[in-house]
Amino acid sequence: MAIFAAMEVFDRLTQLIAEIESAPAPTPEAVEAFRIRYLGSKNVLKPLMGEIRTIPNERKPEFGQLVNRAKEVAQRRYDDLLTATKNGEQSQQASDLDLTAPAEPLPLGSRHPIALTMRRIVSIFERIGFTVAEGPEIEDDWHNFSAMNTPEDHPARDMQDTFYVSAGMPTGPDHTAMLLRTHTSSVQARTMETQKPPIRIIAPGRVYRNETISARSHAQFHQVEGLYIAERVSFADMKATLLHFARAMYGPETKIRLRPSYFPFTEPSAEMDIWWGLETEHDHRITKGTGWLEIMGCGMVDPQVLTNCGIDPERYSGYAFGMGIERQAMLLYNIQDIRLMFENDVRFLRQFASVL
Ligand code: PHE
Repeated sequence: MAIFAAMEVFDRLTQLIAEIESAPAPTPEAVEAFRIRYLGSKNVLKPLMGEIRTIPNERKPEFGQLVNRAKEVAQRRYDDLLTATKNGEQSQQASDLDLTAPAEPLPLGSRHPIALTMRRIVSIFERIGFTVAEGPEIEDDWHNFSAMNTPEDHPARDMQDTFYVSAGMPTGPDHTAMLLRTHTSSVQARTMETQKPPIRIIAPGRVYRNETISARSHAQFHQVEGLYIAERVSFADMKATLLHFARAMYGPETKIRLRPSYFPFTEPSAEMDIWWGLETEHDHRITKGTGWLEIMGCGMVDPQVLTNCGIDPERYSGYAFGMGIERQAMLLYNIQDIRLMFENDVRFLRQFASVL
């Protein structure tokens, strides 16, 4: 009889282990009930443990092991159920989020008026076949001056105008002296040295001159350079291209005029004005009473520049032009002081938020 009873205790223990291993406990309350039932001070294992008296001696160790197993399994199952319900609570919290709620508005920046104006100028030329070229702002003397046919004693090389980066101003011819480029014409030299004609580039970028900062001028500003080199390029080609630019930029009725001028790297050289008119006091002031506004310098690339850059002047000719961006941005957006462009006061910049 005792033997049968003992066998029954083994069976019940084994059954209990199976029960523990699969006990469901989806809520924190059920987990607590599980703990009380299998691990609490009055757990269901305890009365079974008391049955050890009825087990024959030779099977007592086996019974002890089975009881220990039941305890272990209960503890492990409890730990698992506890973490499972905790995670469940978290995902419950996560699902409380309203994913359809409208988001906080993301503050959008604005484009800088210089960038806007530069983009506009560049895209006009891109549409007629020019591609963008770039060069370094820290430039050597060769590309900024010598290759561009600017004589050693030209006043533009003077410390007054050029920021030299290498120590001191070069005393003699030193084409490797480093400086902050004074114009984007340095990109002309770099492009002609590395590309074969036909060349048709537009080069926007920042330039530096050691000038007194005022409402009208700054020591850093931006230019857009243009260069076209091919066979039989004429001054008339240049004029047609620049007229097209002026009309795309300032309206289809825009008139231009070319005045003779001088640049070391072009021959002949000219300055291009657009007709601005003389309707208001402001028009009088910005055109100095003439009605004409100077927009850019231009001319036919000097044959010496072609030679300096390894292009045969007997075969090729071309034109170049360079224009400042700040003044055009000031005209387009009616900005009175150039310094505003470099101070980055958000109250100024924000006004361009909706401008494309
Ligand atoms: N580099 C000249 C300037 O800075 C402009 C220019 C460019 C003139 C190209 C002629 C040809 O004023």
